[in-house]
Parts: sequence; C-alpha cells; structure tokens
Amino acid sequence: MIIAVDGPAASGKGTIARALAAHYHLPHLDTGLLYRAVGVSTARAGLNPDDAAEAAASINLDDALLADPELRSEAAGALASRVSKHPAVRAALLSYQQDFARQPGGAVLDGRDIGTVIAPKAEAKLFVTAAPEVRAKRRHLEDSHADYAAILADIRARDARDSSRSAAPLRQAEDADLLDTSDLTIAAAVQRAIALVEARIRR
Ligand code: CDP
Repeated sequence: MIIAVDGPAASGKGTIARALAAHYHLPHLDTGLLYRAVGVSTARAGLNPDDAAEAAASINLDDALLADPELRSEAAGALASRVSKHPAVRAALLSYQQDFARQPGGAVLDGRDIGTVIAPKAEAKLFVTAAPEVRAKRRHLEDSHADYAAILADIRARDARDSSRSAAPLRQAEDADLLDTSDLTIAAAVQRAIALVEARIRR
C-alpha cells in the first residue's frame, strides 16, 4: 500500500506520515529532505538557488548529507523552497521518490506533490493542513529563540511560493482526504489519519 501525505510547512504531515509508517509497518520517506539537500549543497557550492541549471548541478543525495542536522534548519527549508520551483530539479528527484514508493509492500511518502505527481495511484492520500498562525506557533515552540512574527512571515511566504509555482504546485489532489490539524493534538491527528486511511482501504 502506498500512502501519500502532502501539506504545507508545519502542518503536522511529517509526524503523521511517520506515525502511519509505524502503524502499517511501512518504510517512510520525507521528500522535503531531498529538496533541503539540494538547497544546502547549492548554497555550500556558492551557487545560486534561484538559477535552475546551478541548482540542478548541485544534486547530491548522499546518506551523509541527508543525515546532516543542518538540513533541519529554517534556512535550509527556505533554500529548499527556492530550488524546488525548478522543473529540472524536480525531474532529477522523481525516480528516487518513485523507486521508494514502488518497493514491495509499499511505503509512506510525505511532501507537497506525492498525491498529485509522485504517486497519483496511491491507495490513500491525505492533505494535512492547519491555519498559518497555528503552524507558526508550532515552529516557535520548537525554537523559542526565533521571532514569532518572522516565522509567520516565512510560513506565509513559503506557502505562497509553493502554491503559486508552475511545476508541481502545492495543492490537494482531487481524491485526497483533507485533515485540518489546527485544533487537534498530535495523538488526535494521528488517530484521525489512521481512520481516514482505514476508510480508504475498505472502499
Ligand atoms: O515541513 P517543511 O515545509 O518545513 O519542510 P519540508 O517538507 O522539508 O519542505 C521544504 C521545501 O521543499 C518546501 O517548502 C517545498 O518548497 C519543497 N518541497 C517540494 O517542493 N516538494 C516536496 N515533495 C517536498 C518539499
């Protein structure tokens, strides 16, 4: 079974995807990490993340880089959002993600375009969202040194960039179930996600 989990920054999609993977004993891929790796290697090479050819030339999916804690930073998230708008970058990451999705037994993938582009035939698709203010508050709780207003502005900018780009924009697939986590605890959101997947499997 392939489960596609998409949604904007800090919506809870990563936590939900990991919990679904554990529940169904499936491998999990955080596809945002791939774009973060491209963004960080572009910046480290002194190249321009807004230039399609320079970003595409920096694609490096070494295990060591994918495990680098710097990839988790807000700066890496912003770089990821800039390189991810280039069709050449998205095309270069396509087979890695599709091979992961197609492994025997299936997989859980989370990102922005899993249900729409990477695995359009996934058995279950969730579109996880939450109000921007709630998402900014979550990020602020993770890193209280950062300024709340700046986090909120970054989330809004990233939403706008991810939703308005022409290559695989962030959007809910027509056959995806919407899960708004604004008023849900993590446990309640995970429970709801499992119930939505179960309902899909039974159909
Ligand atoms: O959870 P958060 O948005 O902070 O980070 P992420 O999921 O690691 O994604 C970082 C950036 O990578 C996003 O803002 C998107 O621009 C891009 N991305 C994408 O375009 N497609 C994906 N499948 C995953 C991430």
